[in-house]
Amino acid sequence: MAPSVLVLGGVGFLGRHLVAYLVENDIAANIRVADKVLPATAYLSDKLKKVFEDKRVEFKQANLANPAAIEKIYTKDDGSAFDYVINLAAETKYGQSDEVYDERTYQLSVAVAKEAAKRKVKVFVEVSTAQVYESDKKPSTEESKLKPWTAVAKSKLKAEEELKKIPGLNLVIVRPALVYGPGDVYGITPRLIMGAVYRQLGEKMELLWTKDLRMNTVHVTDAVRGIWHVTGTTAEKGGRTGPVASPEIYNLADHNETDQGKVNELIKALFGIDTGFQGTMISQFAKLNLESVTEDVNEKHLQPWSELCKSGGVTNTPLTPFLDKELLKDNALSVDGSKIEKTLGFEYKVPNMTEANLRDVVTEFVESGMWPKGTTK
Ligand SMILES: NC(=O)c1ccc[n+]([C@@H]2O[C@H](COP(=O)([O-])OP(=O)(O)OC[C@H]3O[C@@H](n4cnc5c(N)ncnc54)[C@H](O)[C@@H]3O)[C@@H](O)[C@H]2O)c1
Repeated sequence: MAPSVLVLGGVGFLGRHLVAYLVENDIAANIRVADKVLPATAYLSDKLKKVFEDKRVEFKQANLANPAAIEKIYTKDDGSAFDYVINLAAETKYGQSDEVYDERTYQLSVAVAKEAAKRKVKVFVEVSTAQVYESDKKPSTEESKLKPWTAVAKSKLKAEEELKKIPGLNLVIVRPALVYGPGDVYGITPRLIMGAVYRQLGEKMELLWTKDLRMNTVHVTDAVRGIWHVTGTTAEKGGRTGPVASPEIYNLADHNETDQGKVNELIKALFGIDTGFQGTMISQFAKLNLESVTEDVNEKHLQPWSELCKSGGVTNTPLTPFLDKELLKDNALSVDGSKIEKTLGFEYKVPNMTEANLRDVVTEFVESGMWPKGTTK
């Protein structure tokens, strides 16, 4: 029988694509989506709006940081339990205080996982992040040294550790690299917006640090296929059928070995602009003065972007070229995503980032009225 699935944080970037994947491939009998944000205010594309209207999808608004809400979310009218629970709910905005991440990420994960164990859920998938590894040029495997380099990652790693201790929890932890694709707001998209800004300014786009700074990626369609694949129920070739040996951990990263240079090349082609990197002197200065450099960088991009939006008739958009200093640091994100291929037979269907993949991101935003027309080549 097709399983019943609970997607926590299912209106977000990964969540909406996961729900679409489950619906379009007729994988689940029913899907409950819990999120504090309503689908109607979440800037869904027309295609995704239809997915959320599907009769198998049931939306429940809830703040999962509130323990009382969690029990309700897990309770079905017929008294049966969800087979699979995927936790994508977390505070994903950069630059918040440690207390915020503690409450909205760490404590939330622990509470929803405890409820899953209590209800004997077959597999609970905790979506963590590959930022938990020590920043290194060498690709991190699941066994590599852990040294989270963002506050989000610190709270996720703390949650991972706590979840491993929950008795009876069938736990799989997934650690994606930078996820990109239609609907991405915080990942690659700020760089795409910068591309549009520099085209408008008629200037060369020069980034900090070097072209070989790793920022490994995974396309959102592969990220959600991977997240589902680890439950072992996938109909795709090579999927597991047995129970999980809890806890299991899988990275998700494509074959592109994405770095700043590769992304710059694609942005150059997409926007028809010149791209490059600031010299060593400026990068050295930025290392020592990251706060003020971040301010300058943001100031340079924010105004032209808002003018572009205004002249293009875009009045309401969640998109911004704003970069937090946590992200502007020269930390390499280098991830080996091959364990899931080797041990579970998973296949990355978008192994490389292409100009077409990035164009899709812009096109969908334009079609949804969130990005001004005519900014690309
Ligand atoms: N996007 C990436 O590049 C990326 C990379 C690695 C890991 N991840 C991880 O994957 C997960 C999902 O990321 P995303 O990009 O889809 O983020 P997102 O911010 O788009 O989605 C998170 C969703 O969770 C919801 N949410 C947050 N707090 C909630 C609460 N208290 N109650 C109910 N709902 C709540 C939000 O409303 C949002 O819809 C996160 O844990 C993130 O750290 C994302």
